[in-house]
Amino acid sequence: MYVRPAAAAAAAFLGFTLTLLGSAASSAATATGPDSPAADRAALGAPVVYAHRGASAYAPENTLEAIDLAMRLGIDWVENDVQRTKDGELVVIHDDTLSRTTDAEELFPNRRPWRVKDFTAAEIARLDAGSWFDEEFAGARVPTLREYMNRVQRNQQRLLLEIKKPELYPGIEEQTLKLLGELGWLDERHVTQRLVVQSFSADCVRLVHGLRPDLVTAFLGTPTVADLPKYAEFTDRINPWHTTISADWVAAVHGLLGAHGQAMEVDTWIVDDAVTARKVRDMGVDGIITNAPDVVQEAVDGL
Ligand code: G3P
Ligand code: CA
Repeated sequence: MYVRPAAAAAAAFLGFTLTLLGSAASSAATATGPDSPAADRAALGAPVVYAHRGASAYAPENTLEAIDLAMRLGIDWVENDVQRTKDGELVVIHDDTLSRTTDAEELFPNRRPWRVKDFTAAEIARLDAGSWFDEEFAGARVPTLREYMNRVQRNQQRLLLEIKKPELYPGIEEQTLKLLGELGWLDERHVTQRLVVQSFSADCVRLVHGLRPDLVTAFLGTPTVADLPKYAEFTDRINPWHTTISADWVAAVHGLLGAHGQAMEVDTWIVDDAVTARKVRDMGVDGIITNAPDVVQEAVDGL
């Protein structure tokens, strides 16, 4: 398990041997990308590991710090959540209010209930999105999607992009795709290798597929086996909560051809321990979405 620098210093003082941090940091330059160890593991058939909201067990979720840490841990794929501000900027944050993961209540005490969609991008840019997690991350920001994509690109990572609560943000599908296109993320290489768009809203996934049929998409949920063929018409993956699945269900998903004529895939969430990671691997899942990507990567490495 990754140990944050402050904790590492304390542990070293107590005489523990902590080698993981150093080795992860020193391999940062080559940890991700198409020729990386992660790509090699995928080629061997182990489930792909996705850093949920970044390496969010160790850094504040959905921040640039969280994806940088995922990179240092050698994780290619990061997951995020996209919403929209009052003045139309796409931002990366999970909750539809700012309360849990920022200091919005302190900075703007009269703006209850502190909804993302009631704040401008300039206001959100002032918020501290790190201190709630650990003082060590004080000053981390809620990134705009543009900032976030630039960092993912710089890190040579890949993105599982979730459009969060699309019912609150009419047109967010078109807007997200427009920005991705402007940033070069809808060219063939990105679309085939570096980007998946997912949502809990089947309507949203269907719309994204209609707008960009070349994009790989995923529906978040666990449809019944009887309903799966309906989903296969517009999506490639079904991404369920891990407690809701069985080997038979995974096999049923694999037995269908998805929107691109390939066997459908399953990426399950949120698995943060080795025992559960091996359990879902043995059910045949294609990917595991986790807050602790180092733990899961180590658990599923080596079949
Ligand atoms: O990627 C799967 C996961 O993100 C779904 O749940 O609430 O963390 O967005 P949530
Ligand atoms: Ca998410």
